Amino acid sequence: MRICRTIASLRRALSAPIPGRGRVGFVPTMGFLHEGHLSLVRASRRENDLTVVSIFVNPSQFAPGEDLRRYPRDPRRDAAALRREGVDILFIPGDAEMYPKTFRTWVDVTELDDKLCGRTRPGHFRGVATVVLKLFHLVRPQRAYFGMKDAQQGLVIRQMIRDLDLSVRLRVLPIVRDADGLALSSRNVYLSAEERVAALALPKALRRARRLIEGGERDARALRAAMRAEISLQPLLAIDYIAVVRLDDLEETAQIEPGNTLVAVAVRAGRTRLIDNYLSGEIKC
Ligand code: PAF
Repeated sequence: MRICRTIASLRRALSAPIPGRGRVGFVPTMGFLHEGHLSLVRASRRENDLTVVSIFVNPSQFAPGEDLRRYPRDPRRDAAALRREGVDILFIPGDAEMYPKTFRTWVDVTELDDKLCGRTRPGHFRGVATVVLKLFHLVRPQRAYFGMKDAQQGLVIRQMIRDLDLSVRLRVLPIVRDADGLALSSRNVYLSAEERVAALALPKALRRARRLIEGGERDARALRAAMRAEISLQPLLAIDYIAVVRLDDLEETAQIEPGNTLVAVAVRAGRTRLIDNYLSGEIKC
């Protein structure tokens, strides 16, 4: 595995001939990798001739006061895991490499970026879209891989790909969960033992939502109430939002449309923000 810390070295590594038909798969991450990330890496390895992974804790997607400084990092462990998975290139730039002092260009995916997580994390999706576009431009992948846990991020990136006619196929792959149902997240390490137990209310509420939809429930209010009842049983959790939205535009919907519905939850457990969702439909392009 080649490790590239600069844009110039990444470009050099990518200019070498690629075996096979030259298909490049790309997995952008912020590191502190878990099985969810590795499932994306494995899919990229299966579907492409060359796999590039980036690790960059992107400062522009953290609002002031968020966890940028304490975000968990372990680049050595990550590099060892990626080497074991057979990754070809690891791009691990520093902040100044990605955002030199003269940096001025931002990508706003309007109307999708101010809903759900965008309400409590203003500027978050601007930071995500900007860094992902920059990384796409550097890596020039045929396919890019993201996790479904960040469903809104997947939708923002899909919109950007469509609007800017980017020639990259978006692959948003299923959430990977611990045995007890908690969605894997690098931020789970922040949770105390009690908070982690309380956090299981999220997958439980979403399983209930799924059963209701599959059983024919179409009233979004009933779904939200059922989930709120489940999560409110946990005093350690403060609900940020429980949303039932259309997948195509993230607008709240009164009537659930199977195949076009995202049921999404965000809570705070102490200082940790957790998200999870159930999707009836697909995010791809
Ligand atoms: O999902 C993430 O880890 C990040 O938002 C991403 C896509 C790597 C951009 O910084």
